[in-house]
Amino acid sequence: MNLLRIDSSIQGPASAGSQLADIVVAEAVAGHPGVEVVDRHLATDPVSSTTWADAVIGSATPEADRTAAQRDALALAASLADELRAADLVVLASPLYNFGISQHLKTWIDLVLAGAPVGSRLLDGTPTVLVVTRGGAYGPGTPREGWDHATSYVTRILSDVWGADLTVVEREFTLVGINPALDAFRDLAASMKTAAEQAATTAGTHLAHRTTTAPASAVGPQ
Ligand SMILES: Cc1cc2nc3c(=O)[nH]c(=O)nc-3n(C[C@H](O)[C@H](O)[C@H](O)COP(=O)(O)O)c2cc1C
Repeated sequence: MNLLRIDSSIQGPASAGSQLADIVVAEAVAGHPGVEVVDRHLATDPVSSTTWADAVIGSATPEADRTAAQRDALALAASLADELRAADLVVLASPLYNFGISQHLKTWIDLVLAGAPVGSRLLDGTPTVLVVTRGGAYGPGTPREGWDHATSYVTRILSDVWGADLTVVEREFTLVGINPALDAFRDLAASMKTAAEQAATTAGTHLAHRTTTAPASAVGPQ
């Protein structure tokens, strides 16, 4: 059994999402000691943004006429799609940057989509934990409610396009303690952090034991 872990934070060891993913993976491995963890860090080992165009245009080009770059891009796209399809468990951390998805994660998603036939359910029933981290807060009634343009998209791809059996772990207000303008929210942010860590522990504990397809669910602060 293997667990594919996908990180995309540009913040290295300071990444709140990677810290939550650490918890999920540690719990999953503890509950299933034989699991092999495959790490794919899209920020430290990014896919070139030109690769996707080469793959898309290459796939519409007769094989004999493809450039070397197009052939390489198609091979990479196919291998990334195969890697995802082969995963028994998936943990994916998605940070909110500039009100949207990380460019590294988007490039990877585009390339994976290019690497398999349209409509391929690459994660059909695969237990998957999506870790979402946001510096601010975007819940109902907040000034920027609806400004998180990343989470619904990533959820759509994982769950509806690829068919994952999805659990979402969310943490907001990660910039509290970093951005002084948010100092008034210290207590709330601390409770959100604790709740997210507990949700990550629960998600990790369940991950290795979930083998059947279930509806998408969410744990942690919304
Ligand atoms: C370049 C950059 C852009 C960001 N843009 C936003 C944003 O639009 N909204 C927000 O709430 N937080 C924003 N943040 C804060 C991140 O969402 C926050 O640091 C979160 O923890 C990211 O996940 P990570 O810690 O795993 O990288 C931004 C951070 C960076 C570095």
